[in-house]
Amino acid sequence: AIIRRSDYRAPLWLVPDVALDFALDADATQVRATLAVTRNGDHDQPLRLDGEGLVPLSITVDGIALTPDQWSMDGSALVIPLSGNAHAVETLVTIAPAANTQLMGLYASGGLLCTQCEAEGFRRITFFPDRPDVLSRYSVRMTADKALYPVLLANGDPVASGDLEDGRHWAQWNDPFPKPCYLFALVAGDLACNADGFTTMSGRKVSLGIWVKAADLPRTAHAMKALKDSMAWDERVYGREYDLAAFNIVAVADFNFGAMENKGLNIFNSRYILADPETATDMDYDAVEGVVAHEYFHNWSGNRVTCRDWFQLSLKEGFTVFRDQSFSADMGSPAVKRIDDVRILRAAQFQEDSGPLAHPVRPESYMEISNFYTATIYNKGAEVIRMMHTLLGPERFRAGSDLYFDRHDGQAATCEDFVKAMEDGGGIDLTQFRLWYSQAGTPRINATLTHDAATGEAILTLSQAVPPTPGQPDKKPMAMPIRIALFDRASARHHGDALLHLTQAEQSFRFPGFSAPPVLSINRGFSAPVVIDSDRSQADLAFLSAHDDDPFARYEAMQQLMVNVLVGTVAGQAMDDTPVIAAIRDTIADSKLDDAFIAEAIRLPSESYIGDQMLLVDPDAIHLARDRLQAKIGATLEQEWRALHARTEANGFSLSSAAKGARKLRNTALLYLSASGAKDADAIAFAQFDRADNMTERQGALAVLASGIGDHREAALDIFYNRYADDALVLDKWFQTQALAFHPDTLAIVDALGRHKDFTLSNPNRVRSLYGAFAANQWGFHQGDGAGYRMVADIVIALDSLNPQTAARLVPPLGRWRRFDAVRGGAMRAELERILATPGLSKDVTEQVVKSLE
Ligand code: ARG
Ligand code: ZN
Repeated sequence: AIIRRSDYRAPLWLVPDVALDFALDADATQVRATLAVTRNGDHDQPLRLDGEGLVPLSITVDGIALTPDQWSMDGSALVIPLSGNAHAVETLVTIAPAANTQLMGLYASGGLLCTQCEAEGFRRITFFPDRPDVLSRYSVRMTADKALYPVLLANGDPVASGDLEDGRHWAQWNDPFPKPCYLFALVAGDLACNADGFTTMSGRKVSLGIWVKAADLPRTAHAMKALKDSMAWDERVYGREYDLAAFNIVAVADFNFGAMENKGLNIFNSRYILADPETATDMDYDAVEGVVAHEYFHNWSGNRVTCRDWFQLSLKEGFTVFRDQSFSADMGSPAVKRIDDVRILRAAQFQEDSGPLAHPVRPESYMEISNFYTATIYNKGAEVIRMMHTLLGPERFRAGSDLYFDRHDGQAATCEDFVKAMEDGGGIDLTQFRLWYSQAGTPRINATLTHDAATGEAILTLSQAVPPTPGQPDKKPMAMPIRIALFDRASARHHGDALLHLTQAEQSFRFPGFSAPPVLSINRGFSAPVVIDSDRSQADLAFLSAHDDDPFARYEAMQQLMVNVLVGTVAGQAMDDTPVIAAIRDTIADSKLDDAFIAEAIRLPSESYIGDQMLLVDPDAIHLARDRLQAKIGATLEQEWRALHARTEANGFSLSSAAKGARKLRNTALLYLSASGAKDADAIAFAQFDRADNMTERQGALAVLASGIGDHREAALDIFYNRYADDALVLDKWFQTQALAFHPDTLAIVDALGRHKDFTLSNPNRVRSLYGAFAANQWGFHQGDGAGYRMVADIVIALDSLNPQTAARLVPPLGRWRRFDAVRGGAMRAELERILATPGLSKDVTEQVVKSLE
């Protein structure tokens, strides 16, 4: 069935209060739910409660048991006709957490019992109107075996607890804030706590707890710091204070996504909580900080103000991603953070937006909402909020966000409500800007700069086109801020940024005061999430890569310089790569630049990014061209790489920005040195691998070794495996590094790893580390005769019966078949058809496959 945004109707029954009583047990948990229901508006419709896989063992209304003729099942929903306007409805069900392989609802993970309810998992726990616009106050009582589950946590604040006979105990938690059921959570298990505290700006004391397996306790310090930094940042930047006496985070090993913002009880994939230098890379540290912040920020953008329906998902996710990106920028280097964010946007969202799964930031329809937790909802959604921030400036944006929180506190709101608050609070007309919510597809902006010598004017002409996407053949021009600067060639300076408001299909902007044609720096800071086509020469790009004072634009000029050479080479042209090599040489010699920025700027665009620039992707030619350029850069600047690798060797570990930047650059230098073909490169990589006192350098060296065919490849992989065999998160890296490697045998290697004793379909992190990574390895995945497609399709089919949400996430790489030659494209289609023919396929996978084939 297809759910449409236009079909939204207010709920017929509300549930202001709910009391849940859980008799917890891994195999059979009893759930007694008492719902205070009230009729909403004037109608005579029955109460309808969603359920999935539930059988009502008893139903009472106002304390009186119903007879079988007083209720019915409509599919899996429970329907109860009620005469009055307010009743207490009680149901009893039994669920089996240990048998829950979908990891939605109440499930078991490594001896713990935990929940994941967003988007529609609560209906797997108890009968309930499972929609985000039904807000209830929860009181939760849990009983459990005290030895197995000594810790009992739920949303809100702890009220009371005690012991029972038979070795059981109980705890009661109340959450005073009305919330939709997708924010419900409980955790039971043998957990240790990193306990800390935070005093809010109004002086309230909050107890903070990060709960993990006892052995992991030493790895929670970074997450705790990130939590306290986030709490302070949200007060300072958005004026948002925490509102309960307790805030708890639990880390679990089996989790479908990154983490979940349940009110007062966030539940995390352990990879976004645990970090220490031995096992986490600097990227992992940053991801922990970012995800902890993201989930914390949801307390306001998501929980206090939630979504009316799931079409509004970007209301909370786009805004919260923007908030976490801003936070991380403030905690570290804004320039490098922006470069990273744009790289992710292009790799995931631009690809999605140009394929069969393209959808607007506010979709019009869906079959399975879990498929819409996408880069478009999250990352493009964040860019849309960022553009409003750019258009308004920080003060007026803050006025808009204050109004939004004030107006909608305690409500289930819409994207329109957010935009309206920005208009009213910020004082701006966003009528045309709203198209960003309804039109899918990445706008392409053509930029042409001309110079009128007679008038001394530079004339910039921008034209825009939004490509057709499924269901949207014709597009209207969008409104967007394009930040530019015009550089005087001789002085390498400009007269300040200009923020252009592009609103029409074609628009010209005139800039007086140029006696000679200037150099165009455009979309500075990536002010709009668009593709820029400009006719800037390689010489102009080289100029900008040396002189642009906007770090993003400088990085971008360098990337474009490289992309032009690589795309030209793939197209069979003889390209001059000397400007690329010169730009890299100058960049690494520029003492004003920090190491992290240098590492970003000098790295070659990924194979898939190069492919994205071409109508028809030729993975082999792209790999060859990129590999050769990398080898040439390596060999030409061999002495520079040696010097850089030596210069960035640290004397002791630190998490300072400078130290992190140095490690990043050290890994890049090692990569180029290895690409140079220098005889001792393999040994240098192995030495770095062997001696590193941190995972960033060890894993960086392992990645270099794993891509080579050198002597140390097998040894390094074996040493790594044996050293970390009982650490699931590090073992994930072992799988992932091999799946991402540029090794001619990647296909066979991944195939063998799928049969490794440590591979399991039951852990989503492990599945993503091997097959998610492999499907992102363009050269490896598209190798040869389509064996890679078959392998991924086999996993989709096998995983679908266990965990359809995670299975569905592996489909999109196969959906890109239109971008490949007839043989590859045909083989990809054939695998999609084969998946679709599987009996009993979930609607998660069905939707992704059907859309991919259309
Ligand atoms: N709200 C969570 C977050 O972004 C993600 C929940 C994902 N759930 C899902 N069914 N896709 O922080
Ligand atoms: Zn989120």
